Amino acid sequence: MASTLITYPNPNELTQSAANLVMQTMRRVIQNTGRCSISLSGGSTPHSLYSLLAQPAYVSQIDWNKVTVFWGDERCVPPDHPDSDYLMARLALLDHLPPENFPTLYRMEGELEPTEAARRYEKVLRGHFGAQAATFDLLLLGMGEDGHTASLFPQTQPIHETEHWAVAHYVSKLSSWRLTLTPPILNRSQATLFLVTGRAKAATLKRVLQGNYTPDDLPSQVIRPANGNLLWLVDREAGSLLE
Ligand code: 6PG
Repeated sequence: MASTLITYPNPNELTQSAANLVMQTMRRVIQNTGRCSISLSGGSTPHSLYSLLAQPAYVSQIDWNKVTVFWGDERCVPPDHPDSDYLMARLALLDHLPPENFPTLYRMEGELEPTEAARRYEKVLRGHFGAQAATFDLLLLGMGEDGHTASLFPQTQPIHETEHWAVAHYVSKLSSWRLTLTPPILNRSQATLFLVTGRAKAATLKRVLQGNYTPDDLPSQVIRPANGNLLWLVDREAGSLLE
């Protein structure tokens, strides 16, 4: 696994660079293979990225009609609920793409009974990737202050999942159900991009990147792509405690 960390002076520059990286990666993959799969995350940092990618200068550079969009996690709410990660991506990015340049979307069905929604998403993923060694061409992730990523929260079972690709679980600290992809699929992406901003995450980021390997406490540590590249894009504040 190749892992690289890039630090930016502020969140705006990070977002700008992330948008260029996403665009270049997608263009390259489409040029080489004729298609591209991307997994989106929720959160505030990705929101700025999606809004930027929705600008005409970016839209015109990407053949979104050759792209398949997945989600790394979802809240158990209907797709029109303000908490929905799917709705966030639609409003910030997808609804700005013209019909003739629109991707294929596979959202997690947060409105269904959670275990059924996970079972259905697993089927979608297996159907799409089948026996392929790699899964996503590009996986976007964020990290919470508690070290969670996707909806892999500290001290929860999905951190250790080895079989299923999508699971539902009740997250006690949130008093709610979440749907999430699991390490066996998350670690088979060709390129993984973590976006982390803000001083509030500095101590956790230091522990994740430079502390002992304790994924039960710091689920983001479980992201270790088997063959792909792992890139951490952080702003100065989030990276302020790194050596
Ligand atoms: C979600 C997420 C989650 C997110 C992190 C970071 O909550 O839906 O997918 O894993 O990426 O909580 O979010 P921020 O960028 O908002 O801090």
